[in-house]
Amino acid sequence: MAKQLVMPPDNYTVRLDYMKKIREWNKDLSKKRKVFVQTFGCQQNEADSEKYLGMAVDMGYEPTNTPDNADLIIVNTCAIREHAEKKALSIIGQYKHIKAKNKDLIIGVCGCMVAQEHRREELKMKYPYVTFTLGTASLHHLPRVLWETIESKKRLITTDSLEDFTETVAEGMPIRRGSGYRAWVSIMYGCNNFCSYCIVPYVRGRERSRKKEDIIAEVKALVTEGYKDITLLGQNVNSYGKETDTDFADLLAELDAIEGDFWLRFMTSHPKDASHKLIDVMANGKHIAHQFHLPLQSGNDTVLKAMNRHYDMARYMSSVHYMRLKMPDITITSDIIVGFPGETEEQFEDTLKALRNVEFDMLYSFIYSPRKGTPAAEEEQVPDTVKGSRFDQLLTTQNEIALSKNQPMVGNTVKVLCDGISKGESSIYSGRTEGNKIVFFHGTPDMIGQFVNVEINKAEAFALWGEIIN
Ligand code: 5AD
Ligand code: SF4
Repeated sequence: MAKQLVMPPDNYTVRLDYMKKIREWNKDLSKKRKVFVQTFGCQQNEADSEKYLGMAVDMGYEPTNTPDNADLIIVNTCAIREHAEKKALSIIGQYKHIKAKNKDLIIGVCGCMVAQEHRREELKMKYPYVTFTLGTASLHHLPRVLWETIESKKRLITTDSLEDFTETVAEGMPIRRGSGYRAWVSIMYGCNNFCSYCIVPYVRGRERSRKKEDIIAEVKALVTEGYKDITLLGQNVNSYGKETDTDFADLLAELDAIEGDFWLRFMTSHPKDASHKLIDVMANGKHIAHQFHLPLQSGNDTVLKAMNRHYDMARYMSSVHYMRLKMPDITITSDIIVGFPGETEEQFEDTLKALRNVEFDMLYSFIYSPRKGTPAAEEEQVPDTVKGSRFDQLLTTQNEIALSKNQPMVGNTVKVLCDGISKGESSIYSGRTEGNKIVFFHGTPDMIGQFVNVEINKAEAFALWGEIIN
C-alpha cells in the first residue's frame, strides 16, 4: 500500500535527528548495508546525486558501484527528453529482479521525472517494487522519507505538487564528490523562463538562489582541499541573486578573489542575461575559465520567439562579439534543438548559418522531444524523418567547424587538468583544457588531478592530442 507524504519545510535539526535514527539502525551490523546511486541527466543531477550519496554515507551506508548487492538504490532521473525517461524506466524495470532476491531492498526514484504526476502514478501502479519517490525540491528530506519507509514498511509515493518550490535552499548537506579535484557547486535552483519546449520550470520550480556567503565558504573550502576545477551550477546562473541585491557578476568577482591555483566555470547561462558586466568580470579575472556555454537553441528569430527565448540573433551575435573582443582565446559552446514544432526548412537553414557565423567550439545538439504540459507539445509536430535528417546535417556542419577551431591549436602548449587513463590504452591519459576541450597525451599516475602542460601535435573535431612539456 502506498502512502502520500506531504513535505514540511526543511528543518536542519529534524533532518539530523532522522539521520541519527538511520545511523543507529545501520550500526553494529556484521555486514554494512550498501547504497547505489544511479544518475541520469545534467550536471545539476550529478550534483544532487553527490548529496544523496553524501547523506546515505552519513547515515551509515557503504557505497557500492553495482546495484546487485545494494540495500538502498537511488535512481536520480531526468525528464528533459523522452529518451531520458525511457532509459530510467527501463533501468528501474531491471531492478525488479534484484528486489526479488532481496525483499528488504529499498528503491527510491528521485529527480525530475518523478516531479510529474503521470510518472509518479505510473511508478505507483506498474512498478510495485519502487519504495518511494522524492522530487527535486525534496532532496534534503531523504533521511525522513527513508526512516518512515523503514519504520512503516510501506511504500511512500510523495507528491511534488505538495512540495514547496519556494522553500529557501537547504544548507549543510553532506556531499560525496566524484573526485578530489573537480567539483560542482550549485548556486541556484529552478528556472523562471518557461521556454515553450522545456519541462524544467515545472519539475524544478521557481528560481531560488543560495546566499552568497554560503557559496563563498564552500568554494574557499574546496580550494583549500585542493580542488582545481570548480563549476558553479544553476539552470540559469546569470539570474543568480535576482531576488536579492546582488548579481551573478558580483558573485563571480568575489569568488575570483580567492587565492589558489584553480579554474572557476559556470553553467548554464541564458543569452538574454549575458551582460557586458559579466563578460568584463570574466576578462579581468584570475581564475575564471575563458569558456562560455551559451545555449542558442535556434538561429531563426521567429523560432526563437516561438520558443519564448527573449533574444534574437542580433542580440546573441553582439554578446559573442563582445566576448571575443574582451577574450580572444574564449571557447564558446552551445545547445541547439532541431525540429521544434513548425520549424521550416528555411528556418533550419538559418540555424546552420548561425553555426557558421558564430563558429562554436562545441555543440550539444538535440532533436526536439515533446514534453507533456509544455506549450510546444500542443503544436503541430515536425515529422521524425525530417528531424533526423536535420540533426545529421547539423552534426556534419558542426564537425567541420569544430575541426577548424581546433586545428590552429597544433603547436601550442596548453595547461591541462589531468583526469586519468583514457579508456582503452594504459599509457594514454586524458584531461581538459581551460576551454574544457579534451586532450590525450602520454602520462603517469602522479599527474591525475594535477595541472600539466601539453604541447598539441594533432587536432580532431572532438579531441586534441599532444605530449607533456616540463
Ligand atoms: N527537446 C529537446 N531538447 C530539449 N532541451 C530542453 N528541452 C528540450 C526538449 N523538449 C535542450 C535545450 C537545453 C538543453 C539542456 O536541453 O537545448 O538547453
Ligand atoms: Fe529550460 Fe529555458 Fe529554463 Fe533553460 S532557461 S531550464 S531551456 S526553461
